[in-house]
Amino acid sequence: MTASPRFALLPKQSQKGVRVVMAARKKAPAVRPVPPTDVGAHAHKIAEAVAKAWHGSYGSGRLDVPLSVVSTLAAAPQNDSHGNDNTDAMITWSPDDFFAFARMIWRAVIQERPEITALLYPLIAWIFEDADTELNSQACAVSRAALRARQLDLTGTDRRFDTDLLGTVLTVLRPASALKARGQFYTPACIAALLARMSDVEEHQAVEDPMVGTGGLFRAVAHVMRDVGRDPRTIQWVGCDIDELAVACATVNSMIWGLGRDIVFHVGDALTDDWKAAALAQRDKLSQLAADITRYRALFALLDGYPVRDSDART
Ligand SMILES: C[S@@+](CC[C@H](N)C(=O)[O-])C[C@H]1O[C@@H](n2cnc3c(N)ncnc32)[C@H](O)[C@@H]1O
Repeated sequence: MTASPRFALLPKQSQKGVRVVMAARKKAPAVRPVPPTDVGAHAHKIAEAVAKAWHGSYGSGRLDVPLSVVSTLAAAPQNDSHGNDNTDAMITWSPDDFFAFARMIWRAVIQERPEITALLYPLIAWIFEDADTELNSQACAVSRAALRARQLDLTGTDRRFDTDLLGTVLTVLRPASALKARGQFYTPACIAALLARMSDVEEHQAVEDPMVGTGGLFRAVAHVMRDVGRDPRTIQWVGCDIDELAVACATVNSMIWGLGRDIVFHVGDALTDDWKAAALAQRDKLSQLAADITRYRALFALLDGYPVRDSDART
């Protein structure tokens, strides 16, 4: 298994600032219930805690907020650089602290991976909207619930490769009737593992799931590849789903599970759309847009301070 990066979702150059945020809070008394040793049971425990905190405080069918809270926490490692338990520090965060952290994480992710911005948008858009004090404190309550259920012992360690926490949270949050109507019953991990072993995926191939959900089959394939010494980051992962939140979760999962950058995901109908071409076109368009923005920024920086001509000032 590969070693844990310090912040699973963050590029290296963005990690220094995160440590400052972590260290800025006073340490709270240790809260250390022992998490279940079975990783699937642990994921369920976190999902139940998140659902209870969210429905208890907000009570709405809106799922982007709790899912994005869990996704944001997935960026934090279990321990800081001195070996201190990050749960102790993060559980004392105010809603403003949590939002500062969330904005910093997702800004860094988007700067590093502009091509996945549209995929992440349904999950993280609300984080960049004008502050809604009540919503922010409810999101913070969800964060504390996930931390108390020891999320960082799962997503902040190599255990994150072994389960689909976001898929579990989405399933627990959604009413059973909605799951049934959408056919959203994700393949159990043991079956996914069996399918992955039978597929025997080699490096540099494409792996496609036209009804990808939160990407559980991709996780299983990556797991098997690592077991036999192959690198899943060499794979092109191609996935589609009509559920935009599931695709957003699959995108976050691709970072949590270290699937690499060759992600071709699409929100749409896999039965009728030319979805793969649409996914590739969107990815290219966003990469191009990000490159243009970088170029324009450099150009504006050059022009900044350049003396304004009289003719320009008049127009
Ligand atoms: C049974 S789940 C399987 C998810 C994933 N492949 C797995 O094995 O865990 C089926 C998924 O198909 C999606 N789905 C249903 N109809 C679809 C369609 N026409 N196009 C794309 N996705 C669809 C649902 O939203 C759901 O996430």
